[in-house]
Amino acid sequence: MTEETLSNLLHEERTFPPSEEFAAQANGTRALYDRAQQDRLGFWAEQARELLHWDTDFTQTLDWSGAPFAKWFVGGELNACVNAVDRHVEAGHGDRVALHFVGEPGDTRDITYAELHDEVQRAANALLALGVQAGDRVAVYLPMIPEAAVAMLACARIGAPHSVVFGGFSSDALRARIADAEAKVVITADGGYRRGRPSALKPAVDAAVDGDSTVEHVLVVRRTGQDTHWTERDVWWHVALAEAPAQHEAQAFDAEHPLFILYTSGTTGKPKGIFHTTGGYLTQAAFTSRYVHDIHPETDVYWCTADVGWVTGHTYIVYGPMALGATQVMYEGTPDTPHQGRWWEIVQQHGVTIFYTAPTAIRACMKWGKEIPARFDLSSLRLLGSVGEPINPEAWVWYSEVIGGGRCPIVDTWWQTETGAIMVSPLPGVTATRPGSAQLAVPGISVDVIDEAGESVPDGSGGYLVVTEPWPAMLRGIWGDPERYWETYWSRYEGRYFAGDGAKKDTDGNIWVLGRVDDVMNVSGHRLSTTEIESALVSHPKVAEAAVVGATDAMTGQAVCAFVILRSEAVEEADEPGEGRELVQELRTHVSTQIGPIAKPRQILIVAELPKTRSGKIMRRLLRDVAEQRDVGDVTTLADSSVMDTIKAGMAQS
Ligand code: WTA
Repeated sequence: MTEETLSNLLHEERTFPPSEEFAAQANGTRALYDRAQQDRLGFWAEQARELLHWDTDFTQTLDWSGAPFAKWFVGGELNACVNAVDRHVEAGHGDRVALHFVGEPGDTRDITYAELHDEVQRAANALLALGVQAGDRVAVYLPMIPEAAVAMLACARIGAPHSVVFGGFSSDALRARIADAEAKVVITADGGYRRGRPSALKPAVDAAVDGDSTVEHVLVVRRTGQDTHWTERDVWWHVALAEAPAQHEAQAFDAEHPLFILYTSGTTGKPKGIFHTTGGYLTQAAFTSRYVHDIHPETDVYWCTADVGWVTGHTYIVYGPMALGATQVMYEGTPDTPHQGRWWEIVQQHGVTIFYTAPTAIRACMKWGKEIPARFDLSSLRLLGSVGEPINPEAWVWYSEVIGGGRCPIVDTWWQTETGAIMVSPLPGVTATRPGSAQLAVPGISVDVIDEAGESVPDGSGGYLVVTEPWPAMLRGIWGDPERYWETYWSRYEGRYFAGDGAKKDTDGNIWVLGRVDDVMNVSGHRLSTTEIESALVSHPKVAEAAVVGATDAMTGQAVCAFVILRSEAVEEADEPGEGRELVQELRTHVSTQIGPIAKPRQILIVAELPKTRSGKIMRRLLRDVAEQRDVGDVTTLADSSVMDTIKAGMAQS
């Protein structure tokens, strides 16, 4: 983020106090902050006992003696699936709709908690029949269909950690994640509907498990009915569930039993398997769903537009809202299929009251124009949320006025795959909101903004966002790599978790998250590693070297821009008329097959040299200047200062 945007942001002084009407019904109160302040661990122990069903009560709230490896709710035993499903049925809410599913082609399905209960039991038995045992890993590669939630909950039910891989990732990316977690089973579908067409998923799984693989079986949901190649290891989901016993007695697991692994981009080429355990994660997921999203399960219709392939889908579709017994909307497709009002049509149809999405989506809707949402009745909405990237005040105000009709509080929620649940956010009904700022740590969470030396910065200054006390939903490590866990998050400032985000405190002490300070980009709220894309480019036979930067983009927050040096054989080819353009296309497709379409560079510039320091380090800062079409900054540390002129000349021509 440039200095200019930064200072613009900090001139934002508008505040929106909660209405009396909202405050009167809100779950959140100021007393929560006081109670947590007074006795943080006591507070979390109360929340855990109040929000969850424990088969065995815990004896110690936090064991931090093995820091940075935490144990929360020591000695406690529970089952995550029972907490999300069974207990609501037992409490007499079996007829309540858990999911209003809306398929992209327009098909709908309402699934009650009783039906969900039936499905998770059969799915758990089907997994057991395929030889999955507690502790075994299961990869999930599915579109946004109810079976995704059922698959995750069934894994949780039998204590088999799931590793959900976003359906937009390529077979190579899937293969690497399956191998790292040594998954025994993959749950996938024949395909899903995307932009009006069936889009196959199974072929990517076939390619990912062919040859040497830990995968013994592939369980396939029939969604599109398209022709699907079949092998001996494949089993249809509907057949396996029909054959499975209807009842499954859930066993309680230790609070620290692994619940899931979720891969996310880090600063190296290798994605990190962030893993979470059961009791602490579920406590904070349920806590924030109740107090930040203000879910009232009896009356609300909640909709989080994230895909289950990201952490937001894990915590704010599956575990948090379901732990409260909420009614949700789940939508399979894109916001503009078949028309740009699709989301608002769904809000109207289902009377959605709470809506949680990403700033990129809001900016896209802004571009399409306010006449589109104006065609629908959005008066059921009472609370809006934002997640994944900083929301600029303009988008915030548009969201508030056009979607929220000026009556809905907005919660701008900062958190990460690693934090497991929301960490910084206003509490609706309590906090006066400020557009563009995530504002304050939620009760029970302690964060700070510190400078290079690790000192807390005064109000009005910027630095790095850190978490200063362990929290229940914190990651318990990086799968198979405890050293990298310590190194990435805990080595920089002793005893504090380094989030990798820059932040600023305004003069009222509100936190403004400004974006990543490491080699991680945030494109449409999706985390991508510059190094990972560079490795993908370099793996192409025509590429000698590559540098990738995230350039500011008005729509997607950041966009991937690549600078590529070709191998000498390819240089001549690229010089032929028209060939350069074709090669760039070839490289973009290559990144897409290596990682997935989301990683495809917006722009690839073929260059003769890259700007490097005398020690050989690529100066990405200068490339970012070029990509953002700014004057190039200080070049005095470059080994060859003429390099930038050549690159700029090339950029002007491209
Ligand atoms: C960014 C998504 C500003 C941040 C839940 C973080 C945000 C990364 C916000 C985590 C927000 C998330 N304001 N930035 N409200 N929420 N981020 O792991 O850079 O996919 O480090 O988790 O997204 O992305 P992840």
